[in-house]
Amino acid sequence: MKTIRTKSALKAYLQPLRDKNKTIGLVPTMGALHPGHLSLLRNAKSRCDIVVCSIFVNPTQFNDASDLEKYPRPIEQDTALLESISCDVLFLPDVEEMYGENEHWHIDLGSLETMWEGAFRPGHFQGVTQVVYKLFQIVQPHYAFFGQKDFQQCMVVRRLVDIMQVPVRLVICPIERSREGLALSSRNVRLSDHGLRDALDLSKALRLVRHGAKEQGLSKSKLAANALLDENPNIQVEYFAICKPDTLLEVKECEGEQLVALIAAYIEGVRLIDNMLIDCQ
Ligand code: PAJ
Repeated sequence: MKTIRTKSALKAYLQPLRDKNKTIGLVPTMGALHPGHLSLLRNAKSRCDIVVCSIFVNPTQFNDASDLEKYPRPIEQDTALLESISCDVLFLPDVEEMYGENEHWHIDLGSLETMWEGAFRPGHFQGVTQVVYKLFQIVQPHYAFFGQKDFQQCMVVRRLVDIMQVPVRLVICPIERSREGLALSSRNVRLSDHGLRDALDLSKALRLVRHGAKEQGLSKSKLAANALLDENPNIQVEYFAICKPDTLLEVKECEGEQLVALIAAYIEGVRLIDNMLIDCQ
């Protein structure tokens, strides 16, 4: 695997490959890689000739300075993991390489900007689209891989691609979970064993809704899931909502074929998100 730290070196490396009609796949990450990231990379390996993984802890998408500071950065471990799955290129820029001084970025994200993640993390999706657009321009990938774990982020990136007419195919990969159901996340390493046990209640609540939706109806199963979360004093829920997957508008009862349950909560001061698709029919 080649580790490349500058835009110009990466462009120079990829251009001859593109000229030879090699298919290029991009997996953008912030590192602290876990099996969720690796599933994206494996998917990319299966579809593309050349896989570029970027690791960049993007400051513009953090609205909490201490979250940015505490974000794990185990680069040696990450490099070894990428080598082990035969990733072709690690793009590892520093902040100065990615950002000039006084850069301004704004894109019209519509209601996605102010709903759920947008509401609780103001400016977050502006930062995400800013860096993802830069990565798309540098790598010019044929395919880019994102995880359903960040459901709203996938919608935001789709909107970025539409507005800016980026010629890339997005591939959305399913959520990788631990055996007990916890959605894998780089932030999980900040939880104690106790916190990890508490965190299981998030996916339990989502499963209660998913299983109950057809039998008891949505609102009853949502009440049961709320009760489960309320019983655990170590969980501070920011939002827990069942929504239409195309607009993220909240619904009270089943509408359409598929809904998505979204949750964000703090455990031991660590902010976790998860989601699950709900079949209504
Ligand atoms: P990061 O949190 O490192 O995630 C990188 C990619 O891995 C995202 O597309 C995310 O949805 C996916 N991912 C994370 N956990 C996953 C899991 N358990 N199963 C499947 N996929 C998972 O998301 C970001 O970084 C950043 O916002 C980024 C897009 C890189 C822009 O800075």
